[in-house]
Amino acid sequence: VCRGLSSSAVRAAAIKHVTIIGGGQMGAGIAQVAASTGHSVTLVDTSDDILKKSVKGIEGSLKRVVKKKFADKPEAGEEFIQKVLQNVSISTDAGSAAQSSDLVLEAIVENLKIKQDLFGRLDKLAPAHTIFASNTSSLPISDIASSTNRLDRFGGLHFFNPVPMMKLVEVIGTSATSQETFDSLLNFSKALGKTPVSCKDTPGFIVNRLLVPYILEAIRLHERGHGSKEDIDIAMKLGAGYPMGPFELSDYVGLDTMKFIMDGWSEKDPDNPLFAPSEMLNKLVAEGKYGKKTGEGFYKYK
Ligand code: NAI
Repeated sequence: VCRGLSSSAVRAAAIKHVTIIGGGQMGAGIAQVAASTGHSVTLVDTSDDILKKSVKGIEGSLKRVVKKKFADKPEAGEEFIQKVLQNVSISTDAGSAAQSSDLVLEAIVENLKIKQDLFGRLDKLAPAHTIFASNTSSLPISDIASSTNRLDRFGGLHFFNPVPMMKLVEVIGTSATSQETFDSLLNFSKALGKTPVSCKDTPGFIVNRLLVPYILEAIRLHERGHGSKEDIDIAMKLGAGYPMGPFELSDYVGLDTMKFIMDGWSEKDPDNPLFAPSEMLNKLVAEGKYGKKTGEGFYKYK
């Protein structure tokens, strides 16, 4: 009956109920996409107030989606929003949410100890079949997984911001992740309407491993006096076809986040010139100029 499918793809169980922990920028976006594609989602955060804001954010984002998708059928659009929101429940109790989940995906603060504590606790409460995954940008998946006894059912699912817009998901397998788990995560990403790529558990996976050193080199080029920020941004947009220049992109991502990622990598690999620190980046971060979110980074924002 299943001729043509690889045996592992057949074995990989479909993910229907998802617990997403962390209702911030990323978690809310992932919850929106999962609920929009018919998954039953429990969104978990530390307080009801935060969760109410997350759901409001999802509703606002859905309204923008519907405006385009159902331009001439506003009632159908409203119906779609209600249907999607029905697929989302909220909870401050990660343990009980995990008990009925096929997948527990974490998008909380980027801190190894806190992520380990969370998964270590949930490992004792979640059913045996439940897959655990992290959306971390910079921490090794195997370090996070080490607090659990389900190394074979642990992987990475790295989404991009804003989640409803960005098509890519990096699926990360550690040396202990089973083929079945990896296939489930690939299939889940496709079920969300995304395009998955397979990654090893190496610093920055694919996208950030190429993007972060590129941005740092743009900053160093500017520090050497070899180009203005504006000219470098124009050059990369018009010459390389990138939608944003490296300074615009840094301000969008957040200079604090960029520094955090680079510091983590250079700590592990201090001799790698690609990970060498930038004085300009360090200074801006020390002054609290994190980019768009604080109103100033490389550029000023209103
Ligand atoms: P955020 O700060 O917007 O959201 C984090 C949320 O987690 C907050 O609502 C916070 O209250 C909640 N939280 C913190 N500790 C918790 C705990 N122990 N239990 C339950 N909830 C908890 O952060 P953001 O930007 O959504 O990032 C989350 C994760 O996603 C991080 O690991 C980050 O590295 C990763 N990531 C971020 C991207 C981005 O562009 N912002 C892109 C891809 C991955």
